[in-house]
Formats: sequence, C-alpha cells, structure tokens
Amino acid sequence: MCIGAANRDPAQFADPDRLDLTRDPNRHIAFGSGIHACAGMNLARLEARVALIRFLARFPSYALGGDAVRGGRARFRGFLHLPARVA
Ligand code: HEM
Repeated sequence: MCIGAANRDPAQFADPDRLDLTRDPNRHIAFGSGIHACAGMNLARLEARVALIRFLARFPSYALGGDAVRGGRARFRGFLHLPARVA
C-alpha cells in the first residue's frame, strides 16, 4: 500500500496537498492502522511537538529560501532538499 498517496487522497481530504495541522476529521494512515498500527506513534508525536516548538522558538523568522526538492520514496513522502533562511 502507498501510504504517501493515501494520505493525499482528494476523496478523503479537502485540499489534500495543503499542510493543515488542525484538519478535522483527519483520517490519515501515516502510522498505519489496526492491530499493527505504529507502536511508537505517541513517542513520535511527542518528539515532533518538542522539535517544532524548539525550532520555532529558536528561529522565529524562519522562512523558505529556495526550491524544495522532493525525495523519491513512495511509502514515506519527504524532501531531499528544503532550503530555509533561519537568520
Ligand atoms: C514519524 C515517525 C514514525 C512513523 C511515520 C511511523 C510509521 C509507522 C507505520 C506506517 C507503521 C505500520 C507498518 C505496517 O503497517 O506494516 C509502523 C509500525 C511500527 N512502528 Fe512506527 N513510525 C514512526 C515512529 C516510530 C517510533 C519512534 C517507534 C518506536 C520507538 C516505532 C515503532 C514501530 C513498531 C514497533 C511498529 C510495528 C507495530 C506492529 O507491527 O505491531 N515507530 N510505524
């Protein structure tokens, strides 16, 4: 199954390519589903929350600084390069 595509299914999500942390309902499957759902999802969410809060506190004027280059993985989407200005 291609999780990256499923999480951007326009039949499931309005405006699926927009990052919306407040999306509700948000029936994504980034951590899988059912009996084999990710056992570390709460740790991963906590780490992400701490990392984002610390990053934004340290670099409040952070901004994108160039063209993003997507990675080639189908299962987990991401970026090879995401230039940013953090001054
Ligand atoms: C952003 C971070 C993470 C993502 C996106 C993620 C994603 C996933 C996904 C999609 C699955 C299901 C795979 C499947 O259906 O076969 C999974 C399973 C699993 N994950 Fe994660 N994971 C993350 C972090 C973690 C962390 C931090 C841990 C442990 C500390 C962890 C431990 C596990 C384990 C043990 C399973 C297997 C569960 C089972 O088969 O019963 N994951 N993860």
